[in-house]
Amino acid sequence: MRVGVVGVGCTKFGKRDITLQELAFEAVSEALKDANLTQDQVDLSVVGCVGTRSYELMPAVPVNEYCGFSGKGPIRVEAACATGSAAVYTAYTSIVSGVVDVAVAIGVEKMTEVETSVSLAVGGRAGNYLWEFHQYGTTFPAYYAMHATAHMARYKTTEKQMALCAVKAHRNAKNNPKAHFQREISVEDVLSSRYICYPLKLYDCSPISDGAAAVVLASEKVVKELNLDAIWIDGIGFSSDTSNMTKRDGFVGLKATVDAAKMAYKMAKINPSDLDLACVHDCFTIAEIMAYEDLGFCKKGEGGRFIEEGESDFGGKIPVNTFGGLKAKGHPLAATGIAMVYEVVKQLREEAEKLQVDLKNYKALTHNVGGTGHFCWIFIFSR
Ligand SMILES: CC(C)(COP(=O)(O)OP(=O)(O)OC[C@H]1O[C@@H](n2cnc3c(N)ncnc32)[C@H](O)[C@@H]1OP(=O)(O)O)[C@@H](O)C(=O)NCCC(=O)NCCS
Repeated sequence: MRVGVVGVGCTKFGKRDITLQELAFEAVSEALKDANLTQDQVDLSVVGCVGTRSYELMPAVPVNEYCGFSGKGPIRVEAACATGSAAVYTAYTSIVSGVVDVAVAIGVEKMTEVETSVSLAVGGRAGNYLWEFHQYGTTFPAYYAMHATAHMARYKTTEKQMALCAVKAHRNAKNNPKAHFQREISVEDVLSSRYICYPLKLYDCSPISDGAAAVVLASEKVVKELNLDAIWIDGIGFSSDTSNMTKRDGFVGLKATVDAAKMAYKMAKINPSDLDLACVHDCFTIAEIMAYEDLGFCKKGEGGRFIEEGESDFGGKIPVNTFGGLKAKGHPLAATGIAMVYEVVKQLREEAEKLQVDLKNYKALTHNVGGTGHFCWIFIFSR
């Protein structure tokens, strides 16, 4: 049975002075309006929220109720920064199993309630607390810095090549009204920004953002009955890797991405070259370079050259993160994976305005990572 995305909504990302529930409602009401459906027509609500930076520690029921879905679940899911995709997957499988016909997946996060130091300390626990955070104080910039130095050492990837990912992200986000940052930056700005953890500087990092996104999924039966406009989910891939970095084979890529990509391409029966665009998990610039390689857009070790030669920009081999990426649109953890679906749906419907890419095959991919490959979820969509 096919499942279609029939409605999408996304709030503006950034520092938002409203509650978690209000943020979620903003995204949900946009998604329902977009689908031309009401709360009554939804059978199940799935709430994705990492929630570790917010006063609302068990947010599923309050969020669900405020959004008007009382009695329709909720299921709460958590998969670190890949929480949004895990929520979409849960909604998808509930429909495919035949239990429900229409499900909504909500991703919401209020991250700016705590200081940066607290956010970094909490984030560092997404790996193995006892063996890593507790012993060495590892944080997410530090984890990805380790990948960056490994990639630089093995493949001669440069800080300038990483900077180009940030420059592209900010250039695209300038035209995205939902983005946390809507200003361009130069390579010089990136290279001269302060080190957070060598070799990653301020502008190599995604920011700490508040935000929410929501998607409405429906069975093919309901799509036909109600004559809804659907973007179809053709492929799904998921994987995970050990929480203990010392057990990993290496740091120049994410095995979870490679495995999830294989699964998703197989299910959708396509190759990377069939895609018109992709949204990848660029929580740090090195993550985008590794994603090009792990998703098969270029060979291992050539990610630096791929960005340098403009292959991931408009007009290149595959435009990546035309919405500004996590780097500049922002990264409210649980909202991120669903916001990627929002952007891809807008592109496939040719509603992306100044950010619209030329579509050939009407196929697009989202790639959402939790931790440093502790989780990975990939979706392939088509129109
Ligand atoms: C990089 C980081 C440490 C910077 O936080 P910070 O030191 O508290 O930064 P501040 O809030 O003091 O911001 C200083 C300035 O830089 C800007 N800024 C903050 N983070 C930024 C970022 N990532 N990119 C660009 N600008 C940023 C702020 O808007 C502010 O600008 P202003 O002075 O014009 O208002 C923080 O953004 C961070 O932890 N990012 C990583 C988040 C993360 O790990 N997510 C999970 C990934 S898996």
